[in-house]
Amino acid sequence: MVVLGIETTCDETAAAVVERPGNGPGRILSNVVLSQIEEHAAFGGVVPEIAARAHVEALDLIIAQAMKEAGRSFAALDGIAAAAGPGLIGGVIVGLTTAKAIALVSEKPLIAVNHLEAHALTARLTDGTPFPYCLFLASGGHTQIVAVLGVGNYVRLGTTVDDAIGEAYDKVAKLLGLGYPGGPAVERCARDGDASRVSLPRPMLGRPHADFSLSGLKTAVRLEAEKRAPLSDADVHDMCAAFQQSVVEVVADRLRAGLKIFRKQHGKPTALVCAGGVAANDAIRKVLQQVAFEAGTVLVAPPPELCTDNGAMIAWAGAERLALGLTDTLAALPHARWPLAEVTKPANALPVTPDVTILDIIATGLPKIAPAKDG
Ligand code: KG4
Ligand code: ZN
Repeated sequence: MVVLGIETTCDETAAAVVERPGNGPGRILSNVVLSQIEEHAAFGGVVPEIAARAHVEALDLIIAQAMKEAGRSFAALDGIAAAAGPGLIGGVIVGLTTAKAIALVSEKPLIAVNHLEAHALTARLTDGTPFPYCLFLASGGHTQIVAVLGVGNYVRLGTTVDDAIGEAYDKVAKLLGLGYPGGPAVERCARDGDASRVSLPRPMLGRPHADFSLSGLKTAVRLEAEKRAPLSDADVHDMCAAFQQSVVEVVADRLRAGLKIFRKQHGKPTALVCAGGVAANDAIRKVLQQVAFEAGTVLVAPPPELCTDNGAMIAWAGAERLALGLTDTLAALPHARWPLAEVTKPANALPVTPDVTILDIIATGLPKIAPAKDG
């Protein structure tokens, strides 16, 4: 089964072709990612309007390159997948509409993929990890511990009550003048710093639930920076090291709590799996390894380029859903928010052939946008 995947939910324009040979890991035939970092850098973060326009300009070329590198024509594909959210709605509309057009003209099934589900299933693409496993998803927009019980079957065990971890990295980088994106910059500076020179809180440490809170930690860094201003390079390095040390300890503690809840509710996980941009961080990967070992399981950590946003994870999630007959119609909605718990489960499978035609879309007008929900 060979699927094209399109990712446009944030600041990466990405397309990939992935093969799902059957049960077991997949084969990435192409994986093209165009980062918009330079277009957003001057603003210190992603500007939704700039992102949507950049996706429009680049997406057809990125898809053409992915198809060329994979050596496939649209006719040789089994399905067309696109991230239909959650994410910045302008970008989501660009990717999903493009996928609908390709699905329509090539008469292939469309799969409207939840971006979080794609992160959640990446370990099956790289390692063929069997269900059930415990997922730690940490990106710029999400920080969640999830029991992954099957395709479409997710139970959230913990989440952040305020900022996501990647968001905290980005905000700390901004206030220390390290630019955007913040994660890699803070990680680099932390290597030369002395964490013991700055005292920072460990929010939620020791709580029995598996939730996170990051905004107090970020505020503590800001207050410390104001106290020490003007900051020397050594100050910046020490503060990055202290911030990262606090994040690492909190992540370990929250995952220990999450794994305890997992065992109680779902038995022993086959693995602890990490995903999302933050999982590219070496210090965090190291502590995840330790937590997995303590819990008597293994860590499955996909390579960093498959932890950050990419088209291969969308194509793979599309292939997993397609294999179960979970396809979508051309009326599939783009979502700004789309909690994992609300993705379609196999029991609600839709027919494989699209049952909405372009005539239906013309008759019913432009696609609607799903109402915002917690995601
Ligand atoms: O998954 P992702 O590529 O995009 C979404 O947010 O969906 O994650 C991007 C986030 C950013 O906040 C970025 O600062 C963070 O992941 N990140 C990192 C590292 N690399 C990326 N955070 C900490 N350490 C890193 N090495
Ligand atoms: Zn992501």
